[in-house]
Amino acid sequence: MGITEELHEQQARGLAEIGSASDLSALDAVRVAYLGKKGSLTTVLRGLGALPAEERPVAGKVSNEVRVALESAVEAKREELSAAALRTRIGEQAVDVTLPGRGRPVGSRHLIEQIRSEIVEIFLGLGYRIAEGPEVELDYYNFTALNQPPDHPARSLQDTFYVRDLSGDTAAVEGESDVLLRTHTSPVQVHVMEEQKPPIYVLAPGKVYRRDAADPSHLPQFTQIEGLVVDEGITFADLKGTLDHVCKAIFGPDRRTRFRPHFFPFTEPSAEVDVSCGICGGEGCRFCKGTGWLEILGCGMVDPNVFGYVGIDPERYSGFAFGMGVERIAALKYDLPDLRILLEGDMRFLRQF
Ligand code: PHE
Repeated sequence: MGITEELHEQQARGLAEIGSASDLSALDAVRVAYLGKKGSLTTVLRGLGALPAEERPVAGKVSNEVRVALESAVEAKREELSAAALRTRIGEQAVDVTLPGRGRPVGSRHLIEQIRSEIVEIFLGLGYRIAEGPEVELDYYNFTALNQPPDHPARSLQDTFYVRDLSGDTAAVEGESDVLLRTHTSPVQVHVMEEQKPPIYVLAPGKVYRRDAADPSHLPQFTQIEGLVVDEGITFADLKGTLDHVCKAIFGPDRRTRFRPHFFPFTEPSAEVDVSCGICGGEGCRFCKGTGWLEILGCGMVDPNVFGYVGIDPERYSGFAFGMGVERIAALKYDLPDLRILLEGDMRFLRQF
Protein backbone atom coordinates (compact mmCIF):
# COMPACT_ATOMS: atom_id res chain seq x y z
CA MET A 1 0.00 0.00 0.00
CA GLY A 2 1.39 3.40 -0.98
CA ILE A 3 1.86 6.10 1.59
CA THR A 4 -1.04 8.17 0.26
CA GLU A 5 -3.45 5.27 0.65
CA GLU A 6 -2.14 4.58 4.11
CA LEU A 7 -2.67 8.22 5.06
CA HIS A 8 -6.22 8.19 3.68
CA GLU A 9 -6.94 5.01 5.52
CA GLN A 10 -5.64 6.52 8.77
CA GLN A 11 -7.86 9.53 8.15
CA ALA A 12 -10.92 7.37 7.60
CA ARG A 13 -10.24 5.25 10.69
CA GLY A 14 -9.36 8.30 12.79
CA LEU A 15 -12.51 10.18 11.77
CA ALA A 16 -14.63 7.13 12.57
CA GLU A 17 -13.05 6.74 16.00
CA ILE A 18 -13.40 10.46 16.72
CA GLY A 19 -17.02 10.28 15.66
CA SER A 20 -17.78 7.45 18.07
CA ALA A 21 -15.86 8.85 21.09
CA SER A 22 -18.50 8.91 23.83
CA ASP A 23 -16.85 11.41 26.19
CA LEU A 24 -13.99 13.86 26.46
CA SER A 25 -11.46 11.40 27.86
CA ALA A 26 -12.23 8.82 25.13
CA LEU A 27 -11.79 11.61 22.55
CA ASP A 28 -8.44 12.57 24.04
CA ALA A 29 -7.30 8.92 23.90
CA VAL A 30 -8.11 8.90 20.16
CA ARG A 31 -6.26 12.18 19.65
CA VAL A 32 -3.15 10.81 21.37
CA ALA A 33 -3.35 7.53 19.38
CA TYR A 34 -3.17 9.44 16.07
CA LEU A 35 -1.68 12.86 16.70
CA GLY A 36 0.35 12.32 19.86
CA LYS A 37 4.16 12.09 19.89
CA LYS A 38 3.96 8.35 19.39
CA GLY A 39 0.69 8.48 17.46
CA SER A 40 0.25 6.52 14.24
CA LEU A 41 0.02 9.61 12.01
CA THR A 42 3.09 11.10 13.64
CA THR A 43 4.95 7.88 12.92
CA VAL A 44 3.97 8.03 9.24
CA LEU A 45 5.05 11.68 9.06
CA ARG A 46 8.43 10.77 10.50
CA GLY A 47 8.84 8.24 7.70
CA LEU A 48 8.37 10.92 5.00
CA GLY A 49 12.07 11.71 4.97
CA ALA A 50 12.85 8.21 3.77
CA LEU A 51 10.67 8.56 0.64
CA PRO A 52 12.12 9.06 -2.81
CA ALA A 53 12.36 12.81 -3.48
CA GLU A 54 9.65 12.86 -6.18
CA GLU A 55 7.03 11.34 -3.89
CA ARG A 56 7.71 13.68 -1.00
CA PRO A 57 5.72 16.79 -2.10
CA VAL A 58 2.50 14.82 -2.69
CA ALA A 59 2.93 12.73 0.46
CA GLY A 60 3.72 15.88 2.45
CA LYS A 61 0.62 17.64 1.13
CA VAL A 62 -1.65 14.65 1.81
CA SER A 63 -0.27 14.06 5.28
CA ASN A 64 -0.81 17.69 6.13
CA GLU A 65 -4.41 17.49 4.92
CA VAL A 66 -4.94 14.36 7.00
CA ARG A 67 -3.48 16.02 10.10
CA VAL A 68 -5.66 19.11 9.65
CA ALA A 69 -8.73 16.93 9.01
CA LEU A 70 -8.15 14.88 12.16
CA GLU A 71 -7.29 17.94 14.28
CA SER A 72 -10.37 19.86 13.23
CA ALA A 73 -12.54 16.75 13.69
CA VAL A 74 -11.14 16.38 17.24
CA GLU A 75 -11.83 20.06 17.89
CA ALA A 76 -15.39 19.87 16.57
CA LYS A 77 -16.06 16.71 18.57
CA ARG A 78 -14.56 18.27 21.69
CA GLU A 79 -16.96 21.18 21.40
CA GLU A 80 -19.88 18.86 20.86
CA LEU A 81 -18.97 16.68 23.86
CA SER A 82 -18.31 19.65 26.19
CA ALA A 83 -21.62 21.18 25.23
CA ALA A 84 -23.35 17.86 25.93
CA ALA A 85 -21.51 17.51 29.25
CA LEU A 86 -22.56 21.02 30.21
CA ARG A 87 -26.15 20.29 29.25
CA THR A 88 -26.13 17.16 31.43
CA ARG A 89 -24.64 19.05 34.37
CA ILE A 90 -27.20 21.81 34.07
CA GLY A 91 -29.92 19.20 33.83
CA GLU A 92 -28.72 17.43 36.96
CA GLN A 93 -28.37 20.61 38.97
CA ALA A 94 -31.62 22.11 37.81
CA VAL A 95 -33.64 23.81 40.51
CA ASP A 96 -37.34 23.78 40.07
CA VAL A 97 -38.24 27.17 41.45
CA THR A 98 -41.92 26.37 41.20
CA LEU A 99 -41.71 23.59 43.83
CA PRO A 100 -43.27 24.54 47.17
CA GLY A 101 -40.63 25.27 49.87
CA ARG A 102 -39.91 22.82 52.66
CA GLY A 103 -41.67 24.12 55.77
CA ARG A 104 -39.72 24.36 59.01
CA PRO A 105 -41.81 23.85 62.13
CA VAL A 106 -41.88 27.08 64.11
CA GLY A 107 -41.22 26.66 67.82
CA SER A 108 -42.78 28.72 70.57
CA ARG A 109 -41.89 29.68 74.09
CA HIS A 110 -42.74 27.10 76.73
CA LEU A 111 -45.87 27.86 78.74
CA ILE A 112 -43.83 28.26 81.94
CA GLU A 113 -41.52 30.70 80.22
CA GLN A 114 -44.51 32.67 78.90
CA ILE A 115 -46.09 32.98 82.34
CA ARG A 116 -42.74 33.78 83.92
CA SER A 117 -42.13 36.68 81.55
CA GLU A 118 -45.72 37.87 81.86
CA ILE A 119 -45.26 38.15 85.64
CA VAL A 120 -41.82 39.72 85.24
CA GLU A 121 -43.38 42.38 82.98
CA ILE A 122 -46.02 43.19 85.61
CA PHE A 123 -43.33 43.82 88.22
CA LEU A 124 -41.04 45.73 85.86
CA GLY A 125 -44.06 47.98 85.38
CA LEU A 126 -44.12 48.53 89.15
CA GLY A 127 -40.43 49.52 89.14
CA TYR A 128 -38.91 46.26 90.37
CA ARG A 129 -35.47 45.11 89.28
CA ILE A 130 -34.67 41.48 88.37
CA ALA A 131 -32.25 39.61 90.64
CA GLU A 132 -30.62 36.20 90.28
CA GLY A 133 -28.95 33.70 92.57
CA PRO A 134 -27.28 30.30 92.23
CA GLU A 135 -29.34 27.11 91.95
CA VAL A 136 -26.59 25.21 93.78
CA GLU A 137 -26.67 27.04 97.06
CA LEU A 138 -25.10 27.07 100.48
CA ASP A 139 -27.12 25.88 103.43
CA TYR A 140 -26.47 29.30 104.97
CA TYR A 141 -28.48 31.13 102.26
CA ASN A 142 -31.20 28.52 101.82
CA PHE A 143 -31.86 28.06 105.56
CA THR A 144 -29.68 29.70 108.20
CA ALA A 145 -29.86 33.34 107.08
CA LEU A 146 -33.58 32.85 106.47
CA ASN A 147 -34.01 32.36 110.20
CA GLN A 148 -33.70 28.57 110.13
CA PRO A 149 -30.50 27.73 112.06
CA PRO A 150 -29.26 24.11 111.83
CA ASP A 151 -31.51 22.73 114.58
CA HIS A 152 -34.61 24.57 113.43
CA PRO A 153 -37.61 22.22 113.09
CA ALA A 154 -38.88 23.95 109.94
CA ARG A 155 -35.92 22.55 108.00
CA SER A 156 -37.53 19.15 107.86
CA LEU A 157 -40.56 20.67 106.15
CA GLN A 158 -38.65 20.86 102.92
CA ASP A 159 -37.10 17.84 101.34
CA THR A 160 -33.72 18.91 100.20
CA PHE A 161 -31.31 17.57 97.60
CA TYR A 162 -27.85 17.77 99.16
CA VAL A 163 -24.81 18.04 96.94
CA ARG A 164 -21.94 15.71 97.65
CA ASP A 165 -18.33 16.56 96.91
CA LEU A 166 -17.21 13.47 94.98
CA SER A 167 -13.56 14.58 94.91
CA GLY A 168 -13.16 14.17 98.66
CA ASP A 169 -13.66 10.98 100.62
CA THR A 170 -16.13 12.60 102.99
CA ALA A 171 -19.39 11.19 101.69
CA ALA A 172 -21.68 13.97 102.80
CA VAL A 173 -25.23 12.93 103.56
CA GLU A 174 -28.30 14.90 104.47
CA GLY A 175 -27.43 17.31 107.23
CA GLU A 176 -23.70 16.84 106.73
CA SER A 177 -23.24 18.74 103.47
CA ASP A 178 -23.60 22.50 103.45
CA VAL A 179 -24.11 22.55 99.68
CA LEU A 180 -27.57 21.87 98.31
CA LEU A 181 -29.97 22.55 95.45
CA ARG A 182 -32.02 25.50 96.61
CA THR A 183 -35.47 24.46 97.75
CA HIS A 184 -36.93 27.91 97.12
CA THR A 185 -35.91 31.25 95.62
CA SER A 186 -35.88 32.92 99.04
CA PRO A 187 -32.05 32.65 99.35
CA VAL A 188 -31.91 35.30 96.61
CA GLN A 189 -33.43 37.69 99.19
CA VAL A 190 -30.32 37.21 101.33
CA HIS A 191 -27.90 37.71 98.43
CA VAL A 192 -29.68 40.89 97.39
CA MET A 193 -29.73 42.33 100.92
CA GLU A 194 -26.03 41.50 101.36
CA GLU A 195 -25.16 43.34 98.17
CA GLN A 196 -27.55 46.23 98.24
CA LYS A 197 -28.89 48.67 100.79
CA PRO A 198 -32.57 49.75 100.85
CA PRO A 199 -34.64 50.87 99.07
CA ILE A 200 -34.90 47.38 97.53
CA TYR A 201 -37.58 46.35 95.04
CA VAL A 202 -36.55 43.11 93.39
CA LEU A 203 -38.08 40.12 91.66
CA ALA A 204 -36.15 36.84 91.44
CA PRO A 205 -37.51 34.17 89.11
CA GLY A 206 -35.70 30.84 88.96
CA LYS A 207 -35.63 27.07 89.26
CA VAL A 208 -35.92 25.31 92.60
CA TYR A 209 -35.59 21.67 93.60
CA ARG A 210 -37.30 19.43 96.13
CA ARG A 211 -36.92 15.77 96.85
CA ASP A 212 -40.44 14.91 95.82
CA ALA A 213 -41.51 12.15 93.49
CA ALA A 214 -43.20 13.61 90.43
CA ASP A 215 -46.96 13.20 90.62
CA PRO A 216 -49.93 15.20 89.33
CA SER A 217 -49.34 18.00 91.84
CA HIS A 218 -45.59 17.74 92.58
CA LEU A 219 -42.43 18.12 90.52
CA PRO A 220 -38.88 17.61 91.80
CA GLN A 221 -37.87 20.71 89.85
CA PHE A 222 -40.10 23.70 89.37
CA THR A 223 -40.08 27.46 88.96
CA GLN A 224 -40.63 30.08 91.63
CA ILE A 225 -40.83 33.84 91.48
CA GLU A 226 -39.57 35.55 94.60
CA GLY A 227 -40.30 39.15 95.45
CA LEU A 228 -38.62 41.37 98.04
CA VAL A 229 -39.30 44.93 99.06
CA VAL A 230 -37.32 46.71 101.78
CA ASP A 231 -37.82 50.40 102.38
CA GLU A 232 -38.79 52.85 105.09
CA GLY A 233 -42.40 52.59 106.22
CA ILE A 234 -43.37 49.41 104.35
CA THR A 235 -46.47 47.83 105.92
CA PHE A 236 -48.66 44.79 105.42
CA ALA A 237 -51.03 47.08 103.48
CA ASP A 238 -48.31 47.53 100.85
CA LEU A 239 -47.96 43.77 100.61
CA LYS A 240 -51.71 43.27 100.23
CA GLY A 241 -52.12 46.05 97.69
CA THR A 242 -49.19 44.84 95.60
CA LEU A 243 -50.23 41.18 95.52
CA ASP A 244 -53.89 41.99 94.90
CA HIS A 245 -52.85 44.10 91.91
CA VAL A 246 -50.55 41.34 90.64
CA CYS A 247 -53.19 38.60 90.98
CA LYS A 248 -55.67 40.68 89.00
CA ALA A 249 -53.01 41.34 86.37
CA ILE A 250 -52.26 37.60 86.08
CA PHE A 251 -55.74 36.11 86.32
CA GLY A 252 -58.07 38.94 85.32
CA PRO A 253 -59.58 42.10 86.90
CA ASP A 254 -62.69 40.31 88.20
CA ARG A 255 -60.70 38.00 90.50
CA ARG A 256 -60.54 38.66 94.27
CA THR A 257 -57.80 37.74 96.74
CA ARG A 258 -57.78 36.71 100.37
CA PHE A 259 -54.92 36.49 102.85
CA ARG A 260 -54.88 33.55 105.28
CA PRO A 261 -52.53 33.50 108.29
CA HIS A 262 -49.68 31.05 107.77
CA PHE A 263 -46.15 30.35 108.99
CA PHE A 264 -42.81 30.86 107.28
CA PRO A 265 -39.60 31.10 109.34
CA PHE A 266 -38.38 34.15 107.47
CA THR A 267 -41.52 36.29 107.53
CA GLU A 268 -43.59 37.53 110.45
CA PRO A 269 -46.51 37.78 110.15
CA SER A 270 -46.89 35.37 107.25
CA ALA A 271 -49.81 34.60 104.98
CA GLU A 272 -50.92 32.44 102.14
CA VAL A 273 -52.80 34.17 99.36
CA ASP A 274 -55.80 32.66 97.63
CA VAL A 275 -57.39 33.94 94.45
CA SER A 276 -61.10 33.49 93.84
CA CYS A 277 -61.91 30.52 91.63
CA GLY A 278 -62.28 31.48 87.98
CA ILE A 279 -64.54 28.55 87.17
CA CYS A 280 -67.31 29.16 89.70
CA GLY A 281 -66.54 32.80 90.55
CA GLY A 282 -66.17 31.87 94.23
CA GLU A 283 -69.38 29.87 94.63
CA GLY A 284 -67.52 26.60 95.14
CA CYS A 285 -67.04 23.91 92.51
CA ARG A 286 -65.03 20.78 91.78
CA PHE A 287 -62.05 22.83 90.50
CA CYS A 288 -61.66 24.71 93.80
CA LYS A 289 -62.76 21.68 95.83
CA GLY A 290 -65.89 23.51 96.92
CA THR A 291 -64.04 26.34 98.68
CA GLY A 292 -64.35 29.05 96.01
CA TRP A 293 -60.64 29.84 96.48
CA LEU A 294 -57.34 28.70 94.94
CA GLU A 295 -54.10 28.99 96.88
CA ILE A 296 -51.41 30.68 94.81
CA LEU A 297 -48.57 32.08 96.91
CA GLY A 298 -46.83 32.52 100.25
CA CYS A 299 -45.82 35.87 101.66
CA GLY A 300 -45.19 37.95 104.76
CA MET A 301 -43.32 40.82 106.37
CA VAL A 302 -39.54 40.23 106.43
CA ASP A 303 -38.62 38.82 109.87
CA PRO A 304 -36.30 41.21 111.77
CA ASN A 305 -33.99 38.23 112.40
CA VAL A 306 -33.35 38.04 108.65
CA PHE A 307 -32.41 41.72 108.64
CA GLY A 308 -29.99 40.82 111.44
CA TYR A 309 -28.12 38.36 109.20
CA VAL A 310 -27.61 40.93 106.45
CA GLY A 311 -26.99 44.01 108.61
CA ILE A 312 -30.11 46.00 107.78
CA ASP A 313 -31.47 48.10 110.65
CA PRO A 314 -34.96 46.76 111.50
CA GLU A 315 -35.73 49.94 113.46
CA ARG A 316 -35.40 51.99 110.32
CA TYR A 317 -36.51 49.59 107.59
CA SER A 318 -39.28 47.13 107.09
CA GLY A 319 -40.15 44.96 104.14
CA PHE A 320 -42.26 42.24 102.64
CA ALA A 321 -41.47 39.14 100.63
CA PHE A 322 -43.48 36.67 98.63
CA GLY A 323 -42.92 33.55 96.60
CA MET A 324 -45.12 32.01 93.97
CA GLY A 325 -44.94 28.78 92.01
CA VAL A 326 -45.15 29.31 88.27
CA GLU A 327 -46.20 25.71 87.49
CA ARG A 328 -49.02 26.04 89.98
CA ILE A 329 -50.17 29.31 88.41
CA ALA A 330 -50.07 27.61 84.98
CA ALA A 331 -52.15 24.73 86.33
CA LEU A 332 -54.73 27.09 87.82
CA LYS A 333 -54.86 29.39 84.82
CA TYR A 334 -55.24 26.60 82.26
CA ASP A 335 -56.87 23.92 84.39
CA LEU A 336 -54.04 21.40 83.93
CA PRO A 337 -54.85 18.07 85.58
CA ASP A 338 -51.20 16.98 85.86
CA LEU A 339 -48.10 19.16 86.32
CA ARG A 340 -45.86 16.52 84.73
CA ILE A 341 -47.07 17.52 81.27
CA LEU A 342 -45.06 20.71 81.75
CA LEU A 343 -41.80 18.73 81.68
CA GLU A 344 -42.58 16.30 78.90
CA GLY A 345 -42.03 18.49 75.83
CA ASP A 346 -45.11 17.04 74.15
CA MET A 347 -45.77 19.29 71.15
CA ARG A 348 -49.49 18.46 71.07
CA PHE A 349 -49.74 20.06 74.51
CA LEU A 350 -47.23 22.89 74.07
CA ARG A 351 -48.65 24.07 70.74
CA GLN A 352 -51.91 25.05 72.46
CA PHE A 353 -50.33 28.10 74.08
N1 PHE B 1 -40.11 30.36 100.10
C1 PHE B 1 -41.49 30.04 100.41
C2 PHE B 1 -41.80 28.66 99.84
O1 PHE B 1 -41.08 28.19 98.99
C3 PHE B 1 -42.44 31.05 99.85
C4 PHE B 1 -42.28 32.39 100.51
C5 PHE B 1 -41.43 33.35 99.95
C6 PHE B 1 -42.98 32.72 101.65
C7 PHE B 1 -41.29 34.59 100.54
C8 PHE B 1 -42.84 33.96 102.23
C9 PHE B 1 -42.02 34.86 101.67
O2 PHE B 1 -42.76 28.04 100.18
